[in-house]
Amino acid sequence: MAIIFKIRTSRNRLLILPILCFAVLNYTEAQTSPRQPAKLDTFRPGEVWPDVDGNHIQAHGGGIIKIRKTYYWYGEQRGKDLDPQYRYVSCYSSKDLLNWKFMGNVVKMLPPDSLTGRWVLERPKVFYNATTKKYVMYFHIDDRQYKVAQVGIAVSDKPDGEFSYVKRFRPLGQESRDIGQFIDDDGTPYLVFEDRPNGFHIAGLSDDYMDVVKDMTLVKAHMEGGAIVNYEGLYYSIGSGLTGWKPNPNKYSTAPTLEGPWTEFKDIAPPEANTYGSQSTMLIKVVGTKKTTVIYMGDMWKPSTQWDSRYLWMPLEFIDGKLRLPQPRPWKLNIKTGEVTFPDEK
Ligand code: DGJ
Repeated sequence: MAIIFKIRTSRNRLLILPILCFAVLNYTEAQTSPRQPAKLDTFRPGEVWPDVDGNHIQAHGGGIIKIRKTYYWYGEQRGKDLDPQYRYVSCYSSKDLLNWKFMGNVVKMLPPDSLTGRWVLERPKVFYNATTKKYVMYFHIDDRQYKVAQVGIAVSDKPDGEFSYVKRFRPLGQESRDIGQFIDDDGTPYLVFEDRPNGFHIAGLSDDYMDVVKDMTLVKAHMEGGAIVNYEGLYYSIGSGLTGWKPNPNKYSTAPTLEGPWTEFKDIAPPEANTYGSQSTMLIKVVGTKKTTVIYMGDMWKPSTQWDSRYLWMPLEFIDGKLRLPQPRPWKLNIKTGEVTFPDEK
């Protein structure tokens, strides 16, 4: 009996020790490391937008592509503690367009070739070329006075980089500042670029996506932040006025084909609202099993605290060929069905 008791005791000791250690370690961890933030279920336009690690998303002036079931969001990384001699592009991934995982800074660049001094890398957009299996990134590259007015290209074999710089040039020989991306329903990629003397172009890419080769249209309007969507057989283009970082009334136009003819531009929201403090960046089409939803993706810039710049994402309303950006408020998206609900309006 005594022998059996002894064995039980030492077995118990053997068991209790690891349990105790585990409990102490867990307690210590809970005291020292920040809690994993809860999964988001609501878009909150204009608020701090935490990624899955709880950090405000740094993907300003960005672009989004979908590879199978995963969305990748590339944008200007404007975090507070970056090395000022570099320019950075961040990459995030998500399955639902709401909960984003930071995949890293996929570009970290010193000024290329003869570009010197303070310089600018803005509005990165990535296209995936299924033939070459390359991810091709376009961005606006410039000097501080915005006189260079070129696009730069960087390439990667994987969506989450690293991207290697290739070249810079003026697309179709024209000035190019803000750029936008549009991928039509048949998969054809287009670069939208603002050409100050003339207007804005929607232009086709070469087969390897490494060049801009075909002007589909030159919309003779002076607009930045160009974004396009093809919704129910009509093309919509949105752009902002030229007021730098300050918001202005963004406008839209429609056309039956990318070549036009484009209608006169009209306000997307009451003009006095100044696009609710935002600037257009991209239009994301979510084709669900029940509904197709188009999301207006806008930037709310804070020029002197860029790391705190916010995002205004709202589903657009379409009625009889007219488009409207509704009053920003919390909303939910069912990524499978494409349906949108407003939790505060029950
Ligand atoms: C407006 C553009 O849309 C931004 O991307 C940026 O270039 C600012 N101008 C700079 O003033």
